[in-house]
Amino acid sequence: MKRFIQQLSLSCWLIGVFTIVSLAQNSPTPSKSIPHLKQQGGTTQLIVHDKPYLILGGELANSSFTSTEYMQPIWPKLKALHLNTVLAPVYWELIEPEEGVFDFALLDQLIFEAKRHDFKLILLWFASWKNSMSSHVPSWVKTDQERFPRVKDDQGKSHEILTPFSESNLMADLRAYQALMRHIKEIDGEQHTIIMMQPENEIGMLPVARDHSLLANKQFSADVPVALMKYLVENKSSLVPEFYERWKQYGFKTEGNWEDIFGVGSHTDELFMAWYYAKFTNKIVEAGKAIHPLPMFVNAALIRPGRKPGTGYPSAGPLPHIMDIWKAGAPSIDFFSPDFYFPNIEYWCDLYTRQGNPLFIPEHRFDNTVAAKAFFTIGHYESLGFSPFSIDSKPKPAEEDLAKGYKILAQLTPLITEQHGQGKIKGILLDKEKQETILTFGPYEFVVKHSHTLGWSAEAKNEVWEPAGAIIIQTQENEFYVAGTGVAITFRRTDADKIVGILKADEGYFDQGNWNILRHLNGDQTHQGRHIRIFQGNYTIQRFELYDYE
Ligand code: DGJ
Repeated sequence: MKRFIQQLSLSCWLIGVFTIVSLAQNSPTPSKSIPHLKQQGGTTQLIVHDKPYLILGGELANSSFTSTEYMQPIWPKLKALHLNTVLAPVYWELIEPEEGVFDFALLDQLIFEAKRHDFKLILLWFASWKNSMSSHVPSWVKTDQERFPRVKDDQGKSHEILTPFSESNLMADLRAYQALMRHIKEIDGEQHTIIMMQPENEIGMLPVARDHSLLANKQFSADVPVALMKYLVENKSSLVPEFYERWKQYGFKTEGNWEDIFGVGSHTDELFMAWYYAKFTNKIVEAGKAIHPLPMFVNAALIRPGRKPGTGYPSAGPLPHIMDIWKAGAPSIDFFSPDFYFPNIEYWCDLYTRQGNPLFIPEHRFDNTVAAKAFFTIGHYESLGFSPFSIDSKPKPAEEDLAKGYKILAQLTPLITEQHGQGKIKGILLDKEKQETILTFGPYEFVVKHSHTLGWSAEAKNEVWEPAGAIIIQTQENEFYVAGTGVAITFRRTDADKIVGILKADEGYFDQGNWNILRHLNGDQTHQGRHIRIFQGNYTIQRFELYDYE
């Protein structure tokens, strides 16, 4: 600390002191516990200020969090979107411009602004790797390639990517991360504006599946580490099927080098890199948590359909088919997250929730599907939350569907988190390809259709339908809340020859957890008792009760 203060200019120091003091003064009541993950039934919750928290997030464009001036017009935009959490990078190059000299003045001001606007922050540590590359490392790292060696491709060509096989690379990143966590603890150890950390960003090897530097080759020809083999043997019955098959193909060998055990090819290169990336990242995470144990997760660039590791997608990131390697190498990472820039969200989320991995989506292209997908993932997977990428990019944020969606998800948060982990919450995502889904709640079957299937609106004739997304929460045996957009629901029973009718329905809102009725729904609004409906493009919460008749 002494060294840090000495190195700062007077003005930076004054700003820093001002900020720390202001942070302390502007703070809500300190919570007892540091943000942490907690199991409720089958669901993992994020606990913030001792209460379950749902991340209604958005990730800033990569370079936005680099000045207070640039961020100034962005804060109100984020407010208009009804975000409660901002995912924002911390750039190694900016906080450690000279080796061992840390400058947190800018970060402090940005944290102060986030807090002033009542946002929580998830900080993304743009350090050794950001989308495979090492572009965010400080210049003293970039220019000393002898001390901070890089990967080489199969032609022996060097790339601007630090090799994970170098101890000095690891230690440089780790010391900076420790300094960051120490600083966060100092300025935010009580207030907890910062609720989670994402070390590195989209780790993965490009343009070939593995590093071919001398350091890497040495490990590649050595035996597969005993620690990994031990993990695989001990967890054999619960490995993901794709990986199990790969190991089986070569006879479940437990000794030998990487190619002896897993065969020759880019798939083995990928496993090899995954292990060393995981080990590297785990050391960073452990060092950070030893100082300030916030939940820490890593994110992955998904596989372009049909592509091979290293050529069509970054090899060896925390992807579902190699999750076992990541789990073995990085037990301190709390969970692994997918970033969405391709379709098939359900396919990928199903893969990401295997082996009890909690779902959080830190990035989704900010397109016309995000509001519907926020409802779907928070409902269907009981995810920790959702976050479109480049959240600061829209000119009229208040008019975005996401703003309407987050507004009601915020109201519903106490209800959702109370019912977590008990099979009482379902999520819906429908479009022209998938127009209907059937959900079961105890004895009831809900037939949920895209509201365009009613054929009542002009848009129903369009070639492509805007997605419908909703959440349904059961609060009593026959009482439910539905929220979202674009659904028409009819009801039947599975266990008896009875007809299910709507006893009561109302539209309303939650204020401090209390339900307020805005209007009683019947007549045309329930199609004279035939269905519960929210038209596509409308975002509402409705409460309804069912009854049976013969
Ligand atoms: C995924 C990365 O994680 C983001 O930082 C960003 O680069 C987007 N891709 C694309 O803009």
